[in-house]
Amino acid sequence: MDAMANDVDEILSQLTLEEKAALVTGDGFWHTRAIDRLGIPAITLSDGPHGVRRQPPDQENGIGGSYPSTCFPPAVGLASTWDAELVERVGEALGDESNALDVQVLLGPGINIKRSPLCGRNFEYFSEDPLIAGELGAALIRGIQSKGVGTSLKHYAANSQETDRFRVSAEMDERTAREIYLAGFERAVKDASPATVMAAYNKVNGVYATENPWLLNEVLREEWGFDGVVVSDWGAVNDRDAAVAAGLDLEMPESQAGPAAIVAAVRAGSLDETVLDTAVHNVLKLVFGHAHLVADPSREPAVPDDMIATHHALAREAASRAAVLLKNHDGILPLSPEQSIAVIGEFARNPRYQGAGSSQIEPTRLDDALTGIRGIAGPDVTFAPGYTLDGSGDAPELVREAVSVAAAAQVAVVFLGLPATAESEGYDRDDIELPASQLALLAEVVRANPNVVVVLSNGAAVRVSDWEGGVRGILEGWLLGQAGGGAIADLLFGIANPSGRLAETIPVKLEDNSAFLDYPGRDGRLEYHDGVFVGYRWYDARRLPVSYPFGHGLSYTSFEYSGLSTSVEGEDADLAVHVSVTVTNTGPVAGREVVQLYVHAPSERVRRPVNELRGFRSVPLEPGESREVSFTLGYRDFAYFHPTLRRWYAERGTAEILVGASSRDIRERASVELPVNEPVTPLDRQSSLAEWMAHPGGRQVLGGLLQQAAAQNPDATSMLHNPELLAMMGSMPLRRIGRFPGVGLTDDIVDGLLVQANAAV
Ligand code: BGC
Repeated sequence: MDAMANDVDEILSQLTLEEKAALVTGDGFWHTRAIDRLGIPAITLSDGPHGVRRQPPDQENGIGGSYPSTCFPPAVGLASTWDAELVERVGEALGDESNALDVQVLLGPGINIKRSPLCGRNFEYFSEDPLIAGELGAALIRGIQSKGVGTSLKHYAANSQETDRFRVSAEMDERTAREIYLAGFERAVKDASPATVMAAYNKVNGVYATENPWLLNEVLREEWGFDGVVVSDWGAVNDRDAAVAAGLDLEMPESQAGPAAIVAAVRAGSLDETVLDTAVHNVLKLVFGHAHLVADPSREPAVPDDMIATHHALAREAASRAAVLLKNHDGILPLSPEQSIAVIGEFARNPRYQGAGSSQIEPTRLDDALTGIRGIAGPDVTFAPGYTLDGSGDAPELVREAVSVAAAAQVAVVFLGLPATAESEGYDRDDIELPASQLALLAEVVRANPNVVVVLSNGAAVRVSDWEGGVRGILEGWLLGQAGGGAIADLLFGIANPSGRLAETIPVKLEDNSAFLDYPGRDGRLEYHDGVFVGYRWYDARRLPVSYPFGHGLSYTSFEYSGLSTSVEGEDADLAVHVSVTVTNTGPVAGREVVQLYVHAPSERVRRPVNELRGFRSVPLEPGESREVSFTLGYRDFAYFHPTLRRWYAERGTAEILVGASSRDIRERASVELPVNEPVTPLDRQSSLAEWMAHPGGRQVLGGLLQQAAAQNPDATSMLHNPELLAMMGSMPLRRIGRFPGVGLTDDIVDGLLVQANAAV
């Protein structure tokens, strides 16, 4: 035991019951509770996740009014980089700013799965795929925590709907939970050890996440080995003593009811004080582990000027890596500064760069794309707003003005997107359409000028299928943070080469989405009828056309894949499949390819997605340069969560390894035989004839029996020698076949055979 653990235990032994109960609830909105008598300091927690939202002491409730900090691209943007190294650098910068602003735990990352594009909080989450969410979430945690600052991995778990988020129950089977909704959390916890995990508002299968012993104690702590603090989302505690018992350590924010309920439950004997001690121990470890970072109170929290400058540059780099070039017909992009250019759309000068709710950062600076474009192409670039952000103003007049500047230019760059109120924490969208006024504007501009490029600003997928045919280029800008304006200008003119890839599918229409018939759940229940078939797993299984598939993104150069090779080592838990492939930049400029590795694994027993992402790498390449990219896959990469055995299970057989540039653009494929020994499921009284015949012991025992019976009376067993009859009878339990006239296998005999068969393996 280390020195700190000793001190913590020593302090714990001196605390009264009331002090223990007080320590596991917050002090105000953002602090843990100090107990001066025992030298226990307080630490500060703040949102997060894509900047530091530290509020001044006199404005601690509410969302606005925080100290300025760098607003990096929210998770929707960071995810599109598919680059853990870059995300880790952003994490390091967030760690530095947390220290500058005297924040000891930054409340992020949020890694919930984007099941429906309607979720109001998708901009704060990474992907529809748990590998991206888990890997990039882990990268952000590593970066932040490398500066000593703690993180809070949120919202655990299945918080994929904002509607009724304080009460709704996410109803799903265990396989769905394990493969999709928990898998990212598992990866981030195991790879990056976040200091805290934040328990979500919602219930999971009827039990609040904050008082769910399966989620908190069994899965998170016992299985994944998490040894940090489980903190409630703000106001997520329902029944405080049940939450302590389930493994929730810290209730936030401060509550009167919480400590009182704990004291009463311990006194009444319904809550064991040693369980409370575990929570106190965890909180004390967190506090003492971060107390050395607490700043001198005389120092005003502020991000220093030199840090503002370097982090703004990093925010611009991240933004330029995050935008996704969806379409580039006839190479309309990159633009040349020599062309006459009209910029249309209020978002060009008044950017939408982050989402609404608790993650809203007060930026240190704010770049707009219009200034960036004029900085490159000169002051002659014309501009018309085309629409207003709040829908006010004379719409026909705004459109007329836009049409006239568009008609006079060689190229019109039209900025469209969702208004700030369309997507937010706390509620969901009703549809995935752009505002009608913007679509009407676009239709007119397209009529006036055939060379239209659309730049989008939105926190989650919008429908493009009804208008994209009329435009030549689309740059999906998501929400790019405070430096997004300059980044967009760089991308439009080829100063930066687009390398973002879609971490979420853009469907043709909302009705195609897997959650369409369930979402949002009403009356307290959100059914996950789509199971593991979420995002591309769904669109691919149903062979649905999509506007742009998962993983898609264009570049101003081209890439070729070659020489896929695989080798297999070990077996079962020690299985290692080594994969390598060469990628070459075959075009004229430097760029980045995101190499994506998908697996199609054997699945005799359950229905599985066609292909699942199992690895990715963002690779920088100069023109003509080649690089070999390698991955190693393990047992888990081929496994599903077996619904009845309740463990990860890989089937023996042939797996396909697919490497490519999107889920629907596979360039190279290879097959490997998986050396896994499937454990034999024991036979029981209900086992069918087919299961007996497939079971090595069962086959042996039945074989012996048949030989014996055939020797005595050939007619009695002819049924079991007839393949057609056998196929028909295969699903019938042996015990019931045994009771048929003339078969003569009594229940006792079958029970005896069972013992023999199971003992034979
Ligand atoms: C959000 C969390 C956030 C917390 C503190 C909650 O409403 O769901 O993501 O960290 O508030 O602001």
